[in-house]
Amino acid sequence: MSHGPSAPAQGAGHAAHHDTPYVPVFTPGSARAAELAALIRRYPEKRAALLPALWMVQQDRGWISEAAMLEIAEQLGCTAAYVKGVVTFYTMYHQHPVGQHFIQVCTTSPCLCAGADKVVEAFLEHTGCKELGLTSPDGKYTVIEVECLGACGFATPVQINEDYVENVTPEKVPAILAGLKD
Ligand code: FES
Repeated sequence: MSHGPSAPAQGAGHAAHHDTPYVPVFTPGSARAAELAALIRRYPEKRAALLPALWMVQQDRGWISEAAMLEIAEQLGCTAAYVKGVVTFYTMYHQHPVGQHFIQVCTTSPCLCAGADKVVEAFLEHTGCKELGLTSPDGKYTVIEVECLGACGFATPVQINEDYVENVTPEKVPAILAGLKD
């Protein structure tokens, strides 16, 4: 069980973000188009390449817009609704622009019992994020709560972009933030 809204629906509390004019990621002849074509060849169905295709878009653009979902749907021969269903299922895909440092704090019961809620509060306070899921005014940070990060013995674990930090306490938060590279 999580404290408060668990892994808030991304986009909740956000102004609508638009990605126009949309510049396609998989432009014919581009390196990304070749990469996607190579991936598709590995699978019996095109749409099996959906998860890595989404990663490519997120790596290049930082988030996955509705226009990007449509582009992927066209590339993989499925509907935009199918793509959106996958994007909205996984908290790892961003449906709106997020901060340079995307901070995910586990607030599932074991970590909550160890004080994860206080860790969340400390991140919000020291990043300047007004609330969960909203990006700080300087664009550097977004903090969300997530379910079990698979490091229950090291409460509270926090994932910052691709990196894990374990045994996080509120007191450690300022030093952790200071150690993040711009
Ligand atoms: S419950 Fe927090 S990492 Fe598993």
